[in-house]
Amino acid sequence: HPTAARRPADAITVQGENTLYTDEHITSKFYNRGADVVVQDGNRYLIKPAVTPFEFRLSARSLRLGILMLVGIGGNNGTTLVATILANRHNIAWHTKSTIQRPNYIGSLLRASTIRLGLDATGKDIYAPLSDLLPMVHPNDLVLGGWDISGVPLDAAMKRAAVLEWDLQRQVAPYMKEFGTPLPSIYYPDYIAANQEERADNVIPGNDKSFHLEQIRKDIRNFKATNNLDQVIVFWTANTERYSEIIPGVNDTAGAILSSIRNSHEEVAPSTVFAVASILEGVPFINGAPQNTFVPGVIELAEQHKSFIGGDDLKSGQTKLKSVLAEFLVNAGIKPLSIASYNHLGNNDGQNLSSQRQFRSKEISKSSVVDDMVAANHLLYKTKAEVEAEQGEHPDHIVVIKYVPAVGDSKRAIDEYYSEIMGGGRSTINIFNECEDSLLATPLILDLTILAELLTRIQYRQLVNDADVEFKPLYPVLSLLSYMLKAPLVKPGTDVVNSLSRQRNALETFLKACIGLEGSSDLLLETRIW
Ligand code: NAI
Repeated sequence: HPTAARRPADAITVQGENTLYTDEHITSKFYNRGADVVVQDGNRYLIKPAVTPFEFRLSARSLRLGILMLVGIGGNNGTTLVATILANRHNIAWHTKSTIQRPNYIGSLLRASTIRLGLDATGKDIYAPLSDLLPMVHPNDLVLGGWDISGVPLDAAMKRAAVLEWDLQRQVAPYMKEFGTPLPSIYYPDYIAANQEERADNVIPGNDKSFHLEQIRKDIRNFKATNNLDQVIVFWTANTERYSEIIPGVNDTAGAILSSIRNSHEEVAPSTVFAVASILEGVPFINGAPQNTFVPGVIELAEQHKSFIGGDDLKSGQTKLKSVLAEFLVNAGIKPLSIASYNHLGNNDGQNLSSQRQFRSKEISKSSVVDDMVAANHLLYKTKAEVEAEQGEHPDHIVVIKYVPAVGDSKRAIDEYYSEIMGGGRSTINIFNECEDSLLATPLILDLTILAELLTRIQYRQLVNDADVEFKPLYPVLSLLSYMLKAPLVKPGTDVVNSLSRQRNALETFLKACIGLEGSSDLLLETRIW
């Protein structure tokens, strides 16, 4: 399948004064063009265009392989991801009731979407796979491993998940069996729903959080050493946890979180122990679930160690659509008055979310997705100054999730967008969205992993008066991953961008900048002039 096909490492070459290729690096010059705006008297704008020159440097060190360690490898996402990679790697085709299906990576932004490069000599648009832009790991080459509190071996765990067609499961099972039992994990019953307790038969003993931290660090080091590789990504695709309470002195600073682990404080979640272990080992950690793993102390620790983190919560179905539709309506000058979202699902995630505190984490993650689009249009929505409140005017927005075992992994999402149109009129859009959850989420895990690995190899320097400044790694919070995330974590103090098209554009522009190309523009000036 084309999405799984291997492409030459030098599929794209830029010949230009801003791009330099050597055996070790691709170095590029990029002019970051922006605008400094002063708002005068509330309704006049004074704008000064601004240009800042940068240089990016991508280490092109050989990347035949990378390691992905999944927390929750025995779950629906975990087993679907492992089985999908194995099916692609071994080219396993399977019978469905209507056809013979070949494995692929459909749904992956990197493997299954293209980017417009420019025009050929006849004036036709030329598109290339996004994964061709820069040298990146191929998903088939990921070395996989991970932890789960459930000790069911991966072949049986895949069967339990009931996501994949039987004929695929049958063929891939012998390979899954080779993985055996996941590594034992950290289980603090208070963090996930009580209904998960019977799964927890593969746990690191005791309540000593320091010991747990050391064990996870050891697991990461051992896995690196056994596979003789140094590029590890740790990815949380385990159950949604409850929120941790933010308490001064407990988890608000790097020092506090480390000492809270030493004291086994109850407000340190298993996912936070994994995040801290990854940071201390200098490997990127991505959170695919909605809870606040990244309490302020963890972000500070990542800054101190210059170690990469990204999150939160995979944006697979309903929220992805919402981040498109809400933007379309608001940018069209139509005013959503209410957005009502109902979900039901029947997998283990749904069962865990049927418990109130875990649902609350998901509700928070799903709720903020329209905020920035609403705040961007003060013609439709009154600002907080106008309404004299903490928040400006906002559409009513509710999220309901119910557990309905019968539908299994096939989540149903029902959304109503109720909007004001001209002259007091009303417009209603109803969407019924059937999301085969794990089949939508798995490609996002791959994209996040491969991009995170890529971003660790990119360094930058800001060129000031041609001074010879050192190259630096990017800021630890990888907000360039936002496209795949429901509640993107960003650098503290900066705005979250939820709009899907802006998120994609940011990523495209950044990847292009790294090979010395200008950002993607739809100006098409050559088609507008004589
Ligand atoms: P799942 O319930 O099938 O899998 C989770 C796995 O994590 C289970 O095998 C469980 O035993 C294990 N686990 C729980 N606590 C653990 C711990 N402390 N350490 C190691 N393993 C642990 O759930 P699924 O469907 O795979 O989803 C995983 C996560 O991804 C959930 O938090 C879900 O909300 C999130 N997510 C899933 C999306 C999807 O479309 N499937 C979309 C967005 C987010």
